[in-house]
Amino acid sequence: MEIKQQFFKQPVRLLAPMEGLTDPLMRQILTQIASDLGRPYDWSVSEFIRVTQTVLPVHVFYKYVPELHHDAKTASGTPIHIQLLGSEAQLMAENAAYACELGAPAIDINFGCPAKTVNNHRGGSVLLDEPEVMYEIISAVRRAVPTHIPVSAKIRLGYTDTSRMDDIRGAISDSGADWLTIHARTKTQGYKPPAYWDKIKAFNKLSIPVIANGEIWNAEQSKHCMVQSGTTHLMLGRGAVTRPDLIAQIDHNNQQNLGSNATLLWQDLITHQIKFLEGQAKNDVVLVGRYKQWLGMLTKGYSEAQILWENVKREKNKATIIAALQSSTQS
Ligand SMILES: Cc1cc2nc3c(=O)[nH]c(=O)nc-3n(C[C@H](O)[C@H](O)[C@H](O)COP(=O)(O)O)c2cc1C
Repeated sequence: MEIKQQFFKQPVRLLAPMEGLTDPLMRQILTQIASDLGRPYDWSVSEFIRVTQTVLPVHVFYKYVPELHHDAKTASGTPIHIQLLGSEAQLMAENAAYACELGAPAIDINFGCPAKTVNNHRGGSVLLDEPEVMYEIISAVRRAVPTHIPVSAKIRLGYTDTSRMDDIRGAISDSGADWLTIHARTKTQGYKPPAYWDKIKAFNKLSIPVIANGEIWNAEQSKHCMVQSGTTHLMLGRGAVTRPDLIAQIDHNNQQNLGSNATLLWQDLITHQIKFLEGQAKNDVVLVGRYKQWLGMLTKGYSEAQILWENVKREKNKATIIAALQSSTQS
């Protein structure tokens, strides 16, 4: 299988799929910030779309990936790949083919989700214990989508432990996947530090690009991750939500042609937070809840966020929160 070389001319930087977190609104904001700082994400991946019994109706694809209306790109031009999750190879293949008809620039397959409801239906990380099923799914999807459209897989190191890593690598190797993203923890290790970046090295024997993911919160950790994993390709998850300038910090630090200022100051982040609060959601209660989730994460990246958090954590009114945000510029 030809490697889709044009995607990996340089080290890639990707914004991770995170269900309920990097939804279309958050993707819009984070990809805009990255572009404004001079280091756009190469692409992001949608939250997983669960495939169970049918070829999903068009509105489901548009709900998860409204970017499909705009050439599958965010307003700042970042492509959005579509992630599917399921265990039935033929059905996954049919949904992938349909996603491509709707304009998906690439299909990613989720083998990392730890959620019980998903795993109980043989989806997500539980399939890491069944590498032959992984192989069936990836190869069926690969056969079903046009050859110029990449098919990738996103995995963890294993389900309960890393004992099946060689089998997983074998399954990926034969499947026709164009690249592989590895969240460097098992399902059992959840989301807790550390991430075992060194374990990624075993996958570099594959003839396809490998993207390292997990526990990158700052530029220094990105360096350690690249050294320990033996790959320069990175996917950023929670760290990118906590410090939206993380991508620029990383490449600034690695002296890739970025301007001198790769830092996003709190005062500049305020405008983006207001845009988030003015974005589309089912209703204001949902939007305010989601904003507080983000603000809670920002407290780890910005001391100013801590002060604002204390002021608004019980506030339900969107306009009041926006006013508090605006006045936090002046402090
Ligand atoms: C809230 C949340 C939702 C997630 N949803 C998805 C998902 O839909 N698809 C997926 O492949 N990974 C998902 N992940 C995993 C992330 O993509 C990433 O692999 C993980 O967070 C490790 O990276 P980090 O330590 O940089 O956050 C999710 C993670 C979080 C925290």
